[in-house]
Amino acid sequence: MAVDSLPAKARKISANIGAHYVDNARILPWRSPPGGVLPDPYHVWLSEVMLQQTTVGAVKSYFETFSRRWPTVRDLARAEEADVLAAWAGLGYYARARNLYKCAVHVTEKLDGIFPQTESELLQLPGVGAYTAAAIAAIAFGERAVVVDANIERLVARLFAIDTPLPKGKVEIRTAMDAITPDRGAGDFAQACMDLGATICTSRNPKCEICPVRKQCAAFAIGNMERYPVKSPKKPKPVRRARFFWIEQQDQILLATRPPKGMLGGMRGLPDDDWAAGNDGHATPPIAGEWRVHDNIVQHSFTHFSLEVDLAVYQDAKMVTNRDEDIWWPLDNIADAGLPTLFAKAVKWKLKEEK
Ligand code: ADE
Repeated sequence: MAVDSLPAKARKISANIGAHYVDNARILPWRSPPGGVLPDPYHVWLSEVMLQQTTVGAVKSYFETFSRRWPTVRDLARAEEADVLAAWAGLGYYARARNLYKCAVHVTEKLDGIFPQTESELLQLPGVGAYTAAAIAAIAFGERAVVVDANIERLVARLFAIDTPLPKGKVEIRTAMDAITPDRGAGDFAQACMDLGATICTSRNPKCEICPVRKQCAAFAIGNMERYPVKSPKKPKPVRRARFFWIEQQDQILLATRPPKGMLGGMRGLPDDDWAAGNDGHATPPIAGEWRVHDNIVQHSFTHFSLEVDLAVYQDAKMVTNRDEDIWWPLDNIADAGLPTLFAKAVKWKLKEEK
């Protein structure tokens, strides 16, 4: 970065991105129009937690469902945690849902239902990390906070041709974002940058011909936009194996609520072979019976490993259970079980296989 020329370049970038946003802001259910009244902090918090590691397209319908069903943070705090987790099913990264609920209870009981307004106070809330605290402070309260998500990272790395590989390069990227963030309207500016990253400054085939900061962009000047952000080579993901158990009795299957801690904690799922505890599962069925095993029916990618799943089926099962976590679930209503995607995929495979 040519530091001596930064202020003029920074001002230009800031002004061009701000002006572009006025006419091109995406209309999203948690947003206020550019320059308008600040949006409801509850909506901003809810959307920002949902948007961590998740695309706008995937989040929209969940945001609508949550904000309609629980219109305020107090309503969410009064809900049953199990209902919140079930409503989150399919969105992934389930620790977010547990923390979302914990945070709603905290804000309701300890803060009288009012979100704190500063980045440093927001950072104290359950499930609110550096990114989310900055985003809420800027978007909901107009604080001049420096917001950096993956879209902004890409945009800024290109504007300044930052070639220190990520994650180390994050420090330089944040410094550059700080330099271009305006004193007023930091929330609109952050969202303008997110929109640019999502729609114009895309990972592949960026649409530089319609970009409002093309002339200020160092990567465009070099003619190698896709080089940025430079990333450290990824380690290959280990592959782990799991076995799920399909125990069927009179058009119902056995589901179990998972222990509160650990992977997919607190969510309902098919009984399994404890793959989540370590490496591969032990593959031993929970009861004796006439099991039929289907190998490798589903694959699923988690952040740090991929999972290959076998399904063991025991049709017309003879089984009685009185464990609190077990529930016989009618197959014709399985869509309402709130199953995380991993289990929903296995159920879908089984129901299709039967046809
Ligand atoms: N990604 C994370 N937060 C966002 C927001 N407020 N608007 C669009 N995309 C986002």
